[in-house]
Amino acid sequence: MLNLQVSSMEIKILQKLKLRVLVIFISVAFGMTIVSIYPGQTQQPVVLNLLMTAPDAQAWKQGIVKEFEAKNPGISINIIEGPNATNLIEDLYTSAFILGDSPYDLINMDVVWTPKFAAAGWLLDLTDKISQEELAAFSQKDVEGRRYKGKLYAIPMRSDVGMLYYREDLLKEAGFNPPESFNDLIKISQTLQEKGKVDWGYVWQGKQYEGLAAMFVEILEGFGSYWVNPETLEVGLDQPETLAAIEFLKNTIQIDISPPGVTTYQEEETRRIFQNGNSVFLRNWPYVWPLANKVSSSIDGKIAIKPMVHTKDGSSGACLGGWALGISKSSKHPEAAWKAIKYFTSEEAQRKFILEAGFVPSRRSLFLDPQIVAKYPHYPQLLKVVDQAVLRPPIAQYAQASDILQRYLSAALTNRMTPEVAMKNAASETRQLLGTKN
Ligand code: GLC
Repeated sequence: MLNLQVSSMEIKILQKLKLRVLVIFISVAFGMTIVSIYPGQTQQPVVLNLLMTAPDAQAWKQGIVKEFEAKNPGISINIIEGPNATNLIEDLYTSAFILGDSPYDLINMDVVWTPKFAAAGWLLDLTDKISQEELAAFSQKDVEGRRYKGKLYAIPMRSDVGMLYYREDLLKEAGFNPPESFNDLIKISQTLQEKGKVDWGYVWQGKQYEGLAAMFVEILEGFGSYWVNPETLEVGLDQPETLAAIEFLKNTIQIDISPPGVTTYQEEETRRIFQNGNSVFLRNWPYVWPLANKVSSSIDGKIAIKPMVHTKDGSSGACLGGWALGISKSSKHPEAAWKAIKYFTSEEAQRKFILEAGFVPSRRSLFLDPQIVAKYPHYPQLLKVVDQAVLRPPIAQYAQASDILQRYLSAALTNRMTPEVAMKNAASETRQLLGTKN
C-alpha cells in the first residue's frame, strides 16, 4: 500500500523534476549563448554554473560572489536558484549527471551527498589540490564527511549543527532552568502554555524530507539509539529505544505542545512560529540566530541556544549538517572552479559570509574570531558542539536509506502505521539495501 503511494508520488516528482531540469538547462544555455554572441563586450569570461537552494543563493549573491568576480575579472559565477529542500536540489544535480554532461561546474554539496556523488564518479578528486596543513584549519568532522574511500571530493564551505532554541526570558520569568531531559522540555512547555505565554511548546521538522532524518538522528541519540552503524552496517531502527524516540515525537502532538501541522513543517515554517513568539522551544540550525535576533523580530534578545535534551541513557545529539564545494568531472573549467573554491572557502570569504548571513564556519579559527564572536557570542560554544556532532550514516546508499526512514517515520508520525510496524519495515528494507541479514 505504502509502496504504491510512493511510486505514484515518485512519478509526479520525476515529472516535476524533468520540467525543472529543462528550465535550468534553458537558463544555463541562455547565459552561455549571450556570452558567445557578444564575445567582444564580455571578453568571454569563464562562466561557472552553480545550483543551490533559493535562500542560500540570496546570501551568496549579496556578498562573496561579487567580491570573487571583482578579484577575478575573467570568471563569472552563474548562480541558479533551486527549490528550498536539500533532497530536491540533490535530485536536480543527480538527474543532470544522469542525463549526460552536467551543466554545473561547481557542486554545492550537502554533507550527506558526498559518498553517492563520489561513488558514481561525478566529481573530480581534490585530494592532491590541498595540503594536510591547509586542511587542518577546518573542523575535522566537516572534512571527514567529504572523503570517500580515502579521497577528498569537496572542501567545506560552511558547517551546520542542529540545536535547541529556547525562550530564555520566559524560562527565567517562570523560574525554570534550561531543560536537560525530554520530560523537562514537556513540563516547561505545558506550564508556559497554561500560563498563556505561548500557543505552542515545541516546534520541529516533521515533514517527509531530508530535514526529518536530520532532526530524528538527534532524538535517536537522545534516547540512546542509532540509525545505521557505518562500520558494522548494523541497523538500530527496530530497537525499543528507537520506538521510544518516535513515541516522544508523537506525544508532543497528542498533548498539544506541538501543533498538529508539525508533520508538514520544514525549517522555515518552524522558524516563523518561534520568531513570531508563538513557541517556547525550536529545533533548528544556527541560521535562525541572526534572523530571530533582528530588531524587527518579536523575540529579539530573548532567546538562547543549547544542545538537544536527552534521557539518562542517551546523550545530546547534534546532527552535523553543512555544505561543501566540489567540481563536476564534466566541467570544462576545472582550474577556474578550483580558484573559486579556494576563495569561497578562504578565511576572508567565510568571515564575510557569516557576518552577513549567519551560518556556521567550517574553519575552526572563525569560531573564536573577534568580529564573529562580537556578533554571535555563542560561537565558541558551538565549536564544541560541532566537534561532537553526529553524522548521518556516511554510506554510498545514503539517499535510499534516508528515503526509507523518511517514508516510514512519516507514516508513524501521521498515524498511518504503528511505530512498531513502521520501524520493522524500515529496518528490514534498510538491511536489504545494505545487504545485511534480516
Ligand atoms: C541544513 C543542513 C543539511 C541538512 C538540511 C536538512 O541545510 O546543513 O546538512 O541536510 O538542513 O534540511
